[in-house]
Amino acid sequence: MKIAVVGTGYVGLVTGTCFAETGNDVTCIDIDQKKVSCLSAGEITIYEPGLEKIFLRNLKEERLRFTTSLKDGIKDAKIIFLALPTPPGENGSADLKYVLGVADNLGKILEEYAVVVDKSTVPVGTANKVREAIAKNSKVEFDVVSNPEFLREGVAVDDFMKPDRVVIGVESERAKKYMSELYAPFVRSGNPIIYMDLRSAELTKYAANSFLATKISFMNEIAQLCERMGADVDMVRLGVGSDARIGKRFLFPGIGYGGSCFPKDVQALVQSSSEVNYDFQILNAVMQVNEKQKLHLIPKITKYFGGNLNGKHFALWGLAFKPNTDDIREAPALYMIDALVEAGATICTFDPEAMKNVKQLIGNKISYAENQYDALKNADALIIATEWNEFRTPDFNKIYKNIKGKVIFDGRNLFDNKSLIDLGFYYESVGRAPSN
Ligand SMILES: NC(=O)c1ccc[n+]([C@@H]2O[C@H](COP(=O)([O-])OP(=O)(O)OC[C@H]3O[C@@H](n4cnc5c(N)ncnc54)[C@H](O)[C@@H]3O)[C@@H](O)[C@H]2O)c1
Repeated sequence: MKIAVVGTGYVGLVTGTCFAETGNDVTCIDIDQKKVSCLSAGEITIYEPGLEKIFLRNLKEERLRFTTSLKDGIKDAKIIFLALPTPPGENGSADLKYVLGVADNLGKILEEYAVVVDKSTVPVGTANKVREAIAKNSKVEFDVVSNPEFLREGVAVDDFMKPDRVVIGVESERAKKYMSELYAPFVRSGNPIIYMDLRSAELTKYAANSFLATKISFMNEIAQLCERMGADVDMVRLGVGSDARIGKRFLFPGIGYGGSCFPKDVQALVQSSSEVNYDFQILNAVMQVNEKQKLHLIPKITKYFGGNLNGKHFALWGLAFKPNTDDIREAPALYMIDALVEAGATICTFDPEAMKNVKQLIGNKISYAENQYDALKNADALIIATEWNEFRTPDFNKIYKNIKGKVIFDGRNLFDNKSLIDLGFYYESVGRAPSN
């Protein structure tokens, strides 16, 4: 089937590549000329495990193309996906200018029936707005479908190829037929396609992300209690997570959630709620807890150094908001960098994939090391902000030798308290008693 994907970022590129992988003829459209040139030349623009291989294969087989022209890109497409940004607007609600701007243009250029699919995370009622924006100018029939995306950066290809479920909000049999044909190869093992009305599909995505963010903030509050009551949050997590009603996943305490989705989606749902006169109290608390949690390590570090960080030098392992991605949007590491630099400290960092993006954002505000051990030189302490696998079992002797202060502040609870004491470190993490 001929498919177009408008917006070729994290979601659009994975979506386009994975649909090409199942034999479709896909054109990805983006306004970013540089991105389109890179992708057309076989140069991948994001780091996502497993993506490059199938991207190159489908590019070579000519099932995957890139263009900046919306008109050329959607020509003959039966299904047009909108994978456009929906960043927070001034009041926290999702800004629909990208989605509605493209919908407006689509109305002017659609030449035959097509299904227009909202893949972006959009507030309830957006499908109607998209329909109106297209209908204003369109001379042909079309349908609008809501198909929110649940992929996780870092495992996006797997999530897309083997989704737990596919949610499709659709109100026309014709569009439903196209969507079920397109998704058939992705649900062969019995994972469901859940069809529903448009508004329910739109709300499902916000409800899912908000619930996951709630789980994280809840465990971060339990971690706060553990620190005050002398309990170990990792033990509590195991005890709690063994209850099948609760589940083991998403119970890890740390320095808060970040990324391009949870912060903006929780905020947008709170804002949408207020527009229908509902005060979503739990989510307000979830956001407040997360704001504080991003800086959870700072008072601990300040206290350890006697209340003054001026002139201190830190090694920082991890910049990405989570491992296996180069995405730094709303990354807790960035908040810590601001706080530490403001307090007069200097920082040398290492991240396996995200340094390029951070350099672009903050340049020489901090320095960048070639590898995780070089980052330790002359540091008064090591701070860990992202749980990359290569940080989990480091060479502790090498750390001990390279670092000036034998001190580790771990925002992701990577190490065992007792082992670190035995190795001669002062070690402080989240929700566990400090050890030295
Ligand atoms: N990143 C995720 O993990 C994830 C997961 C699920 C859902 N989502 C949702 O998917 C949507 C897209 O997110 P993303 O992370 O892929 O964003 P992104 O910023 O990585 O990509 C968006 C792309 O759209 C392009 N663009 C902007 N205006 C355009 C226009 N007029 N025409 C063509 N291209 C245009 C940008 O240049 C960019 O390449 C958002 O609504 C997001 O909430 C994201």
